[in-house]
Amino acid sequence: MRGQPVKLYDPAFNADPEGFYRSMREEHGPVVPVLMDGDVPAWLVIGYQELHHVLSDHGVFARSPRRWNAWDRVPENWPLLPVLVPLPNLLSAEGEDHRRRVRAVNDALDGADPHELRMVATRIADRLVDGFCASSSADLRSQYAQRLPSLLLCWMYGMDDDRGERIASLMGTVFDAGPDSQRAHAEIAAELAGLIAARRAEPGPDVVSRMIAHPAAYTEEDLVAELVAVLGGAHQTTSEWIGNALRLMLTDDRFSASLSGARSSVQEALTEVLWEDSPSQMNAGRFAVHDVELGGKVVRKGDLLLLGYAAANKDPRVHAGPRAPGGGTNHAHLSFSHGEHGCPHAARGTAETMAITAIEVLLDRLPDIELAVPADEVRWRPSPWVRGVVSLPVTFTPAPPQGVI
Ligand code: HEM
Repeated sequence: MRGQPVKLYDPAFNADPEGFYRSMREEHGPVVPVLMDGDVPAWLVIGYQELHHVLSDHGVFARSPRRWNAWDRVPENWPLLPVLVPLPNLLSAEGEDHRRRVRAVNDALDGADPHELRMVATRIADRLVDGFCASSSADLRSQYAQRLPSLLLCWMYGMDDDRGERIASLMGTVFDAGPDSQRAHAEIAAELAGLIAARRAEPGPDVVSRMIAHPAAYTEEDLVAELVAVLGGAHQTTSEWIGNALRLMLTDDRFSASLSGARSSVQEALTEVLWEDSPSQMNAGRFAVHDVELGGKVVRKGDLLLLGYAAANKDPRVHAGPRAPGGGTNHAHLSFSHGEHGCPHAARGTAETMAITAIEVLLDRLPDIELAVPADEVRWRPSPWVRGVVSLPVTFTPAPPQGVI
């Protein structure tokens, strides 16, 4: 029925998000009343200008889920609880508390030597390729794209490779959101608490030691929660970024020549994905500090606004797409969000190093790699939040492992 809230859990959404956004735009305009699982209400912001405004005006659209006016509508064991429950980390923090945390995260990530980071990313990528190159097939999502970001971040935290492997696999379990998700989350937190204790006793040249020593002066509980948030922020998004760019390169003729050579097109594929298949399709959120008009709708104090990055990137009212009007690259997409709570600048740089290295190493090692199924059989995961493939099966001429450890 027209004017009714849109059900985000409608299977039609996952079948064709772009078509769904189009009809939402026609019916509701840039700010859409929606129902999440369990018919819990929210606003979905799909207009570019409106989303930019929400992300920029922290005085009116604030971050802390404690402000939410619909907690009493949330059922027990609600599947979206993990994305909305307030935690002692930068995701729920506001104002000076938030700025102090972001400074610490940026300083700690920036402390890594970029050349060493690139070298270690290459070593990890080579090791992952070693794991499947002698056979003639692999699933690039589960065996490669999903593992590299957590493994590199664990190295940045100062973990050895065995621990990194364990955490990377636990991260996969957390984000699969199945029955073991809570247990895996608790195990990661326990590992990190142990790591913090070890680094307090013996600091090293790593992110955890830099966070401990930072003037932000974290408490023990906050530091664990912060390190989990940073690891989680890296894992899901960067995995999907790598996977979606590989999917594009393997399915689109414009990139086929580059599979065995031209490096610039790796960067082009990564940028195009940020416009076309944004890894964070949508995110929760911001909360109205007081009643406010937005895109022709009256948003009440405490209402939840979901951030529709993918839809906003394709808003027909703005120039969209990776090409800037006068030539060059258009970086004005909102895939890393924007404003105070946007993805921290050091995190974006780290993610780019991970993504470029992952794709370049793979194409160097397995130059005749190709998709093992027709392009239209590559399925997207059924989630309105994340844009990523279910699997990316490929075939290639077997190659000997390089023995990278
Ligand atoms: C090394 C990899 C990465 C790390 C460590 C990382 C870390 C983080 C952290 C800590 C935040 C919270 C910022 C805050 O609340 O102040 C964040 C937010 C975010 N990041 Fe990243 N991130 C990474 C990669 C990515 C990638 C590849 C994307 C997508 C292309 C992405 C998109 C976002 C978005 C959309 C937000 C949400 C901000 C909001 O609430 O508006 N991140 N990231």
